[in-house]
This record gives sequence, structure tokens and C-alpha cells, in this order.
Amino acid sequence: RRVTRLQHLAQWKAEGHKWPMLTAYDYSTARIFDAAEIPALLVGDSAANVVYGYDTTVPISVDELLPLVRAVVRGAPHALVVADLPFGSYEVSPQQALESSIRFFKEGGAHAVKLEGGERIAPQIAALTAAGIPVMGHVGFTPQSVNTLGGYRVQGRGDGADQLIADAIAVQEAGAFAVVMEMVPAEIAAQITRKLTIPTVGIGAGNETDAQVLVWQDMAGYTHGKTAKFVKRYANVGEDLSRAARTYAAEVASAAFPGPEHSY
Ligand code: KIV
Ligand code: NA
Repeated sequence: RRVTRLQHLAQWKAEGHKWPMLTAYDYSTARIFDAAEIPALLVGDSAANVVYGYDTTVPISVDELLPLVRAVVRGAPHALVVADLPFGSYEVSPQQALESSIRFFKEGGAHAVKLEGGERIAPQIAALTAAGIPVMGHVGFTPQSVNTLGGYRVQGRGDGADQLIADAIAVQEAGAFAVVMEMVPAEIAAQITRKLTIPTVGIGAGNETDAQVLVWQDMAGYTHGKTAKFVKRYANVGEDLSRAARTYAAEVASAAFPGPEHSY
């Protein structure tokens, strides 16, 4: 089994081989996804929601994300590990983006970073690429800008399509090796995927992107409350865990656990 490199992603686009990406935030799940041959793992700032319990991704810091990146890198010897740059760690200047990314590289052991934005963030992408740090872009719905975008809404509809296309092209031209497209019409995502030479990674972007990404808790049914339309559940981990906890509690109460086989 080989380690995923950037050239494999480029090769897969050329071959029309679609690939999966999942988020991961800790050692144990990273091990499972790496062993399941998921070639790329994202330590998303979605950790703000699913790990730290914030309402949005805005509050999470580099210091909160870094230990998660280190844990995922230790758990995933084959996968390409991408670290998300959190809000406030790259917008100020290309230099700020560089300083934050260097931390994820040197202290975190990440193989690439991801940042949100198209044309407006192209100087940052160019500076990182020039410094030898591979960048994954992220356009369409960008959760860190939820307040600017008017809530959790599909982007690139109608008049927005031209800006979305311009953003995706700007990300590629600035040197990114791939670009996430979130919550955009499938037809526009397909058009952009054909136009770009770098792989597109869709989330709520239809099935014609080169790759797909999902937050693992969404994919595995480990979140509570309503999930977005673009989520498909492949397991019911939350229900299983809840049932396990209740059964454990009942067995402790009845002294059915521990049994003789668990005792010394
Ligand atoms: O933070 C995240 O999980 C993401 C993906 C959903 C693309 O940015
Ligand atoms: Na993110």
C-alpha cells in the first residue's frame, strides 16, 4: 500500500478515477480511515462544531486545531493529511498565512493546508505555494463567511455562477493542487471540474467532481440534529454508542458487568 502524494491526485483526475476524502480529528478514527484506504484526510475546522461544540467554525484557533492535526498524522501513515487554516489565521496577509501554515507543517506534521476563499485569497495561496506548502482551496459556500453569505445557502446560483467560476480559476492559477467546492449547483460544479486542470473535491456539489468529502460524523451518523441535504449516512454510530452506554449502565446497576470472564 502506497502513501498518497499530490501527483496521485493529479493522475486520478487524468484517469477519471474518483476518490474519497473524510475529515478526521483524532488518532483512533484516523487509523480506521487510513486502514480503509481513504487516501486523503482533512483535519477540518469543522472540529469547531463536532469536537469543541462551538456554533460555527469562527471561534476555533490554531492552538485548538494543532493537536488534532498531530494526532491524525500519527494515526494515518498512508493518507495525505490536510490541515484547515482556521478563521483569523490567514486573512490578514500572505505573511500571516505563511506563519500559520508553517506551524501546521512543522509542529503538526501536515502535508498540505486548506483555506477558504477564491480571488480574494489568491495572494495567500501564491505565497504558500512559493514557500513549498501545498494548498487546497475552498470555494462556493465557505462556512467561515457564514455571516457574509447570508446563512447556510447554496452559492453560485444564477448571477453567482460567474464569480464562482472566477474564484475556482483564481485558486488554480495561484498554485493550489486541488479545490473544495461546497454547496454549489451540480451543473456548475461539473462545468468547473471540466475546466480546471486540478482536482475538484465536492461537498454538496453533485457527482461530477473529481473527489468527494464529508465530515465523518455526518457520514457515520454520529451527529445530532438535522444534517444538510448533501449528507448521506453510511452508519448509525451515534445510535450504537448510545445503546452501548445505556446497556453498560444497566449492566453495572444489575451487577451483570463485570462477569467472571472480566475479573481476576
Ligand atoms: O472543515 C471541514 O470539515 C471542511 C470540509 C467539510 C470541506 O472544510
Ligand atoms: Na473547513
